[in-house]
Order: sequence, then C-alpha cells, then structure tokens
Amino acid sequence: MSALDELYREVILEHYKSPRNRGRLVNPDVATRGHNPLCGDDVEISLDLENDVVSDIRFQGKGCSISQASASMLTEAVKGKTTAQVRNLIQTFKAMMHGEPVPRDTLGDVEALQGVRKYPVRIKCALLAWTTLEEGLDIYAKSERS
Ligand code: FES
Repeated sequence: MSALDELYREVILEHYKSPRNRGRLVNPDVATRGHNPLCGDDVEISLDLENDVVSDIRFQGKGCSISQASASMLTEAVKGKTTAQVRNLIQTFKAMMHGEPVPRDTLGDVEALQGVRKYPVRIKCALLAWTTLEEGLDIYAKSERS
C-alpha cells in the first residue's frame, strides 16, 4: 500500500470512527433518504437552508465504513455552501469517483475517497450519501417551484 493510500485509509477510518454531524434535524427544510440496492444499507440526510445556504446538516443510517465516512465528509463539505455550490460539489465528487479529472483542492477530506475507485463494487457505497442529497435537493427545488 502506498503512503497516499495509507493516508486515504486513515482519513476514511477517522470519519467512520468519529462521524461529523450525525443525527437528524427537527423540522428540516430538506429530508431525504436513500439506499444502496446492492446491499440494502441506507442513509438519511436532513438539512436546513437559510437564504439558500446550508446552515445545518445531519446524517444517520446504517452501512459500511465507506458509506458512513463518505456521509460524514459530505456534511462537512456542504455546510455553509449555497445549493448551487452543493450541486457543483456533488458533480465534482461523482466525476472523481468515475475517474474523471477534477480540479485540485476542491474536495478537501473528500479526496480520500478516490482510493475507493480501485474497488468498483464499493463506488456505490461512496456515492450513496451524495446521490441521496442530490435527490433531496431536486425534490426541494420542485416543491419551491409549485
Ligand atoms: Fe452497503 Fe457499502 S456495503 S453501503
């Protein structure tokens, strides 16, 4: 294992053991839940928006270390960002997980998840929280328009 792989592994394990923003918000603006069809694991994300900025966010659910660490990293990465910035971040993360080049230093700790690409079956684990949040934002945007 290379030194970089070891560092990535440590970052993932650290988020898994000490997850950030775990729990559920009361009366959130966005509440969404998704599951990984390959294993049945799930994640639930709730977030509050103030003037289109993520003011608070929580996640909970059950799943492997990668899915839980990824959800923890997501909550840190999106707090304080506008919904448009969050959507950009989601697209950048998906591109990274699919092996596409992404701008350096845009993802912070989240970059540690690129090590997961070596294990294609685990990519869905890493993507779970991100696709769940994207769906939640889509539903919220639709409800705002109607
Ligand atoms: Fe279920 Fe990773 S094995 S989310």
